[in-house]
Amino acid sequence: MNSKTNGNHKSNAALPGAKRNAHIAGWGKYVPEKVMSNDEIAKLVDTSDEWIQQRTGIRERRIADPKETTSTMAIRAARDALALAGLNPGDVELVIVATATPDYIFPATACLVQNALGASRAGAFDLSIGCSGFVYALGVGASMITSGAVNNALVIGSETLSRLLNWADRGTCILFGDGAGAFVLRASDTPGGVLSYKLGSDGSGGDLLIIPAGGSKHPISQEVIDQGLQFLRMDGQAVFKFATRVMGKAAKEACELAHLSLDEIDLFIPHQANLRIINTASKFLKLPDAKVMVNVQKYGNTSAASVPIAFCEAVDAGRVKPGDNLLLVSFGAGLSWAAAAVQFEPVMPSKPHTAKDVLADWFHYNVASARSVLSHGLHRLDSVTGRKVWGAKDPK
Ligand code: UT7
Repeated sequence: MNSKTNGNHKSNAALPGAKRNAHIAGWGKYVPEKVMSNDEIAKLVDTSDEWIQQRTGIRERRIADPKETTSTMAIRAARDALALAGLNPGDVELVIVATATPDYIFPATACLVQNALGASRAGAFDLSIGCSGFVYALGVGASMITSGAVNNALVIGSETLSRLLNWADRGTCILFGDGAGAFVLRASDTPGGVLSYKLGSDGSGGDLLIIPAGGSKHPISQEVIDQGLQFLRMDGQAVFKFATRVMGKAAKEACELAHLSLDEIDLFIPHQANLRIINTASKFLKLPDAKVMVNVQKYGNTSAASVPIAFCEAVDAGRVKPGDNLLLVSFGAGLSWAAAAVQFEPVMPSKPHTAKDVLADWFHYNVASARSVLSHGLHRLDSVTGRKVWGAKDPK
């Protein structure tokens, strides 16, 4: 047993009825290839590399290729996470996609991901709570595991915010980027894993960060488009002040629920929105820079994808070791916030992913794709035969 648990682990203090633990067993990230620098943005709006870096810490962000969507990026991140966990996609029991930029209003992006992965035994749903989404989804997935409802869960944050930005609004277009990150959570008796989480919401600030159109209040119409309501709108200063208020507080609450002191935190992985917000929260929590993960300079704010992408990069950089206590915190539209304390005790497969496994994965995903086409054909056939039998009409 890891010395930090000391045989007296108070894990899952916040997860009612927990008899087993939800561990991070795999992780993966995907970011689009296209890099957009601050100088490129300065060609579109009245801004400068110097202003953006000074006020946000951002140097560049990734922008999705026209063929890429929230689901395609989620699938890429999920495949890596599954491979690392050694979990066969056919054995996945739950897929949650946290996103503010789903492929469609419905079907859920999680269903598209479930289908593409060939996760035929999995339930799937989207979780929409803006940038807080991934940490919310982590809490939901962990609770479903510790309650015994599922044995594993694929928790993904994926966003294509570049498609919903007004590229003439310098107050917002400088901030955001595209990408995806995924965790495989797995049940285990090993102490540790997701120790606690704290979720929060204050809908009175709903209009401070909003995409007004496309829902039932303002369905897309020419009038709505003429007013630019299809784009993200934000009161930057108000969101900034809200973020600096809630981030540190939520982080402290998650630590308290996990019976951890802030001194016991090895790495703070905050939502990557603005370096000044991260610095304010770190100062409030009295955490030195060495204990704070920052990669906002490379990707900007990738919303629900930011925390898992930062986690993946922290692991790659050797900043997360087995037994480490991690503190994950996010905030965003809603207004909303979420924090989770995690003891990283990766429940890893007994053998590494070999070339044979890579081939098996390739075969599985191709079979999944063929099965999807076949299944789609059968649904169409149902529709045709249904019309023949019942005289039902195509609702177009
Ligand atoms: O996941 C949650 C997502 N949202 C956030 O995290 C956003 C939080 N807010 C922020 O990060 C910051 O408020 C911003 C980066 C959006 C803005 O920074 P700020 O320091 O709050 O700037 P400001 O809005 O107070 O504007 C200061 C000045 C203004 O000019 P005047 O009125 O002082 O002459 C703005 O017009 O900077 C101007 N300005 C810019 N100048 C150059 C605003 N945006 C820009 C820009 N380039 N992109």
